[in-house]
Amino acid sequence: MDLAQKIQELKKEKKAVILAHNYQRPEVQDIADYTGDSIELSRKAMMEKDAELIVFCAVDFMAESAAVLNPQKKVLLPSTGARCPMAQMLTVDEIKHAKKQYPKAPVVLYVNTLASCKAEADICCTSANAVEVVNSLNADTVLFGPDSNLADYVAEKTRKNIIPIPQNGFCPTHLLFQPEDVQALKIEHPNATVIVHPECSHEMRKVADFIGSTSKMCKYAKESTAKEFIVGTENGIIHRLQKENPGKKFYVSYNGAVCPNMKLTTLDRVYASLKEEKTIVEVPAAVAEKARTSLERMFQVK
Ligand code: 13P
Ligand code: SF4
Repeated sequence: MDLAQKIQELKKEKKAVILAHNYQRPEVQDIADYTGDSIELSRKAMMEKDAELIVFCAVDFMAESAAVLNPQKKVLLPSTGARCPMAQMLTVDEIKHAKKQYPKAPVVLYVNTLASCKAEADICCTSANAVEVVNSLNADTVLFGPDSNLADYVAEKTRKNIIPIPQNGFCPTHLLFQPEDVQALKIEHPNATVIVHPECSHEMRKVADFIGSTSKMCKYAKESTAKEFIVGTENGIIHRLQKENPGKKFYVSYNGAVCPNMKLTTLDRVYASLKEEKTIVEVPAAVAEKARTSLERMFQVK
């Protein structure tokens, strides 16, 4: 029996569900019950009523959200080191300080934050629903963090005054994308459609035909009549794009755009995680309760 089969056996025995983000290694995506973007995976985690274990193949904040939304289930993160550096860029103290400066402004936090920060937010958002979440608020000025690129994108798409907290939070992987690389690829593939993630810089978003969350990019590629795509997000997504669209071609705009934290999850680690039921993601009850409110408010919007 190979490792993938062993994982499937153990999964059944333990009544586990395996969730994998669109950036996971191909072999990890292939053994998962569901692959998706951050909001889809959070919803799936909530819907798996019969599961006793959730193995979350992604990074810390996504597994934490699953734990917050499923206090009665065991949530496992196969690789403890899988931490999103952007989520570490915002602290509770910074949020409190910003709230003092703008007492009337609601705090909207991207799900790429730790649960302790979500507990200080009025509402959460993902890259798939950030514009709708901000538009749902009855306020002209909004505190938004930690991604200053997503904040900038939301400011472009709404009439709100968006104040980024911190001033310059960013994703180190999406920062690697440059419009020059897109232009060079366009010379080779002039008919290619450019699809990018909103965590990319303003300059990258300017050269895009479509901007959206990882799953929205997958949906767009499936529905589009285009046959070639230049992709501006972490390269793990190419596996899903290619699998779902065998007749289309996908070129990652920069080959080095890898999220090392997402890639820490290997089949060996998934197997060990299931077998030894490690590492359990735990969020203190008081923090979880407040963070859950911020997440549930988001689900009410979209
Ligand atoms: P998505 O919600 O679009 O999958 O994005 C999560 C993420 O971490 C992007 O870097
Ligand atoms: Fe965090 Fe960027 Fe990795 Fe997404 S790609 S998990 S934002 S570091």
